[in-house]
This record gives sequence, C-alpha cells and structure tokens, in this order.
Amino acid sequence: MKILLTGGMDGQVGWEIIRLAKSTSHQLIPLTRDQLDITHEESIHKAIEHHSPDIVINAAAYTAVDKAEEDHEIAYKVNRDGTLFLAQACNKHGIPLLHISTDYVFDGEKSTPYEVDDAPAPQSVYGLSKWEGEEYLRNELSQHIILRTSWVFGRHGNNFVKTILRIGSDRDELKVVADQQGAPTSAHSIAACLLELCDRYEQDKNLPWGTYHFTGSPESTWFEFAQSIFSEGKKLGLLDHDVKVLPINTEDYPTLAKRPANSRLSMQLTKSRLKVETPNWKNDLVEVLQYLKG
Ligand SMILES: NC(=O)c1ccc[n+]([C@@H]2O[C@H](COP(=O)([O-])OP(=O)(O)OC[C@H]3O[C@@H](n4cnc5c(N)ncnc54)[C@H](OP(=O)(O)O)[C@@H]3O)[C@@H](O)[C@H]2O)c1
Repeated sequence: MKILLTGGMDGQVGWEIIRLAKSTSHQLIPLTRDQLDITHEESIHKAIEHHSPDIVINAAAYTAVDKAEEDHEIAYKVNRDGTLFLAQACNKHGIPLLHISTDYVFDGEKSTPYEVDDAPAPQSVYGLSKWEGEEYLRNELSQHIILRTSWVFGRHGNNFVKTILRIGSDRDELKVVADQQGAPTSAHSIAACLLELCDRYEQDKNLPWGTYHFTGSPESTWFEFAQSIFSEGKKLGLLDHDVKVLPINTEDYPTLAKRPANSRLSMQLTKSRLKVETPNWKNDLVEVLQYLKG
C-alpha cells in the first residue's frame, strides 16, 4: 500500500515510521517540510495528485510548546490550518488520514486518567492549536484516526531523554518536576501502531475511525522518568557517575506554557475498540539508550 508521510525525516515519530516501514511491504513516501509544507494548501493537493497514496500519515507539527506562546501564528498555521488542509485534500481524494495529537488538549485538573470524550480545556497555545486541528479534522473527514499521545521520546530528534542525559553528564544532582503525572511514550511505539493501522486498513479497507489515546505504561512523573533515564543510562555505561534527582514542584520551574498537572490518558477505548495494547515505555527507554550508546 502507498503511504504518504508528512513531517518525515527530521521529526521523532516521522523518522521512526521511515525506519520501521523498511521492513514492511508498504511503499512509504516520506516528505520533509521542504518537500511538502502542510501550511501550503495547494502543495498538499499537488502532492496527493502526484503520488496518489492509499492513506496519509501526518507526523508534521509545530511542537515547540513554550515558543508557541510567543509564536501564536505559526503554531495555529501548522497545527490547526495544516491539519485542516490535509483533511480537505484527503476528503477530496477519498483517502483516510492518520493524525497525532496531544495530552495538552486537557487542563490536567481531573484526578483520574482522561477519557477520549472528556471536555478539552487546553491551557497553552500549542494545546489549543492541536485541539482546533483535531476539531477541523473530525468535521472535515470521517475516515480518520487521531492518536493523542504524551511525553514522546526516541532515537532521533530532541527529547527529554537526550536533554536529561546531556545535563546529567557533568552534574551530581538535578532538580526535576515531580508534581506532573503522565506517561512517556516512545516514538517507536507510536510509529509501530500507525503502521499496524495501515496494515489493517490495507486488509479490511476499513478501521474503527475516531479519536483514541496512545500512551506508554506505567504512569510516571518527569521526576521518575529522569530517575529511570539515569539508572538505566548508568547501567549501560552512558554515564560514569550517579546523578541524584531532586523532586521539585511546577511552581519552582516556571515555563512560558502551562503544563497539565495530570496528563494521564486512559487507554480503555484504545484497547477495547481499536484493539491496540499499551506499550511499555521502560523497555523502549532501554532500547533508545542502547542506540544512543552506539
Ligand atoms: N514531542 C512530544 O512530546 C509530543 C507529545 C504529545 C504529542 N506529540 C505530537 O506527536 C506528533 C509528532 O511529534 P514529534 O515529537 O515527532 O515532533 P517533532 O520531532 O517536532 O517533528 C515534527 C516534524 O514536523 C515538521 N514540520 C513542522 N512544520 C511543518 C510544516 N509546516 N510542514 C511540514 N512539516 C512540518 C518538522 O520539520 P522541521 O524539523 O523542519 O521543523 C519536524 O520534522 C505531533 O503531532 C505532536 O504534536 C508530541
């Protein structure tokens, strides 16, 4: 099957899709931002007409969460308008769109994991731009899957794992926020899930269309995630010393964008309807650290 991928090559998830697709029978057409800027409506139509894919995966997004507070325009252009243009083009050509969204569509005030239909209340420009992108997609194209994920890390691109390792390499202790709950999710597991959905679409010419959550297990805090990175990193020889992680509160680490205190996303619907299981981020973390060790 022919899959057109936006945000390919340089993005965390796009890069993993390209890597994993090599061992499938699918013909992947990965397009970088230079090759297909999703904010250019006309270019999207041209790309779809030129390549005539069977399905589109959108891994392109504006993901600079703090910068988005100042760069409103570009965040909305990419995350909202770009998603709309893709949805309209897919609708016109009768093809489905697999899209990725975020835990930041919620305000984090709930005390239990968020269900897919819980009321959205984005607290940041990034969260709102992603929510509006979701809404435009749902209204425009019935044949879609939206996977809301959280705390993405992987082999390629910038992420918390690499930042923490870099900072820890010349320190004995590090303060990390401990009052935000969520779940790390590997780019690898998101890519594998999206490709699995492509397999199923190829076979059945159908999917249980809709919005789902896809996050790793077990639940964690950034503090616990950092502890795991240091302990596994030390075991693998990526660090030659112990780094003590000190828990702090969000108010002690001010950022431009407000983050939800509770980022936990329920996988209930994903398991029961989409028939996709929760990936274990701890296993994926070891795999990423092994890769980084080289
Ligand atoms: N990272 C996280 O922690 C996280 C958490 C929850 C949800 N998500 C969602 O997961 C998805 C994948 O995230 P990621 O971590 O893989 O993001 P990423 O590493 O920032 O990659 C995003 C990709 O999109 C490309 N891009 C940006 N603007 C574009 C445009 N106008 N047209 C085409 N491509 C464009 C970027 O290209 P350049 O490199 O050239 O800018 C980059 O290759 C996104 O939808 C994101 O919102 C991510």
